[in-house]
Amino acid sequence: MKLMKWELMLGALLSTAFGGLLLLFLSQLLASWTDLSSPFTRTSSKKFEWQAQTPPALVPRVLQSYSFLLNHPDKCEDPRGPPFLLMLVMTRPQEVGVRQVIRQTWGNETLVSGVIIRRLFVLGLPPPLFAQELQDLLEEEDREHGDLLQVGFLDTYHNLTFKVLTALEWMAQSCPTAQYVLKVDSDVFLNPNYLVQQVLWPNGPTQLDFITGHIYRGANPVRKQNQKWYMSPELYSHNQYPDYCGGPGYVMSGSLALRILAVAKSIKPIHLEDVFVGLCLQQLGVKPTPSPPNTFLMFWRKYDHCTFHRLVLVHHFQHQELLQIWPDFILSHSACPTG
Ligand SMILES: *[C@@H]1O[C@H](CO)[C@@H](O)[C@H](O)[C@H]1NC(C)=O
Ligand SMILES: *[C@@H]1O[C@H](CO)[C@@H](O)[C@H](O)[C@H]1NC(C)=O
Repeated sequence: MKLMKWELMLGALLSTAFGGLLLLFLSQLLASWTDLSSPFTRTSSKKFEWQAQTPPALVPRVLQSYSFLLNHPDKCEDPRGPPFLLMLVMTRPQEVGVRQVIRQTWGNETLVSGVIIRRLFVLGLPPPLFAQELQDLLEEEDREHGDLLQVGFLDTYHNLTFKVLTALEWMAQSCPTAQYVLKVDSDVFLNPNYLVQQVLWPNGPTQLDFITGHIYRGANPVRKQNQKWYMSPELYSHNQYPDYCGGPGYVMSGSLALRILAVAKSIKPIHLEDVFVGLCLQQLGVKPTPSPPNTFLMFWRKYDHCTFHRLVLVHHFQHQELLQIWPDFILSHSACPTG
């Protein structure tokens, strides 16, 4: 272990809600002590404004000039061939402890035998307060694990669309022959075995225009301000979204990922990344493929060994809980009723 104890503790602290509050508190304190308005103070007050007001329209930028601060262009090189599944895990820079748990659980690249899986954590720039400390920590973490892909803009919820698209840019450049690409958030339970064996079928033909997950059909934009998923009529004027797969986790063929990326450049970006991918699909004339019923759960579900062996994903699963249930989960499930 190269990481010093205090660094781990700082990382773990920052990845908790308490750490977030602490950061906020420190920044407010700092702002009241000095009359200088630090970049962080500006960002944090902007965040509150955001929650109370209309979102700023996103401008189509970033995409042409992407660069990575941490990169692994040779991640997909393997004498056995291209990866069957590329996992792009969205995490925030400060979630050091969460990434560690994911590596030990569902992010383990060798968990499913017989297929090549590659995993990368996608993250942006850390918040300005403690930015240098966090950046040093990230470089150390990356030296140890070689799995961080850091994009060159601020890691905020409202930059998530850009983050996902930039990750797909990476795929186009460094891993274009991956058969399937999974976009997944860090606050989930994932069952890679079920995903590979029951949804993607490694021995079947590659499904070309394929994307699946939890499909939202005919959803209406939230027009009430102050709500997390608020969508202004200026940004999106229609009163129905096209079909789209829920953001916590969706999987698509590599070829479709490349087509989504290509068409994304001609579509006005919106901050709801999953809806945006839906808009790209609509433009391409591709409909999401239904997954087996109740396999991508968008709500938390209490862990149960047999149930969890027959699904792909459960949202709102905290990493502490994941760590707790994992030893039981990976025990043989031959005792479960089939079907
Ligand atoms: C990943 O899974 C393999 C096979 O189950 C296991 O041997 C290995 O220890 C796991 N690695 C980690 C980091 O947990
Ligand atoms: C997105 O990232 C850019 C570049 O770091 C930053 O200036 C901007 O504030 C971020 N946008 C939002 C909405 O957070």
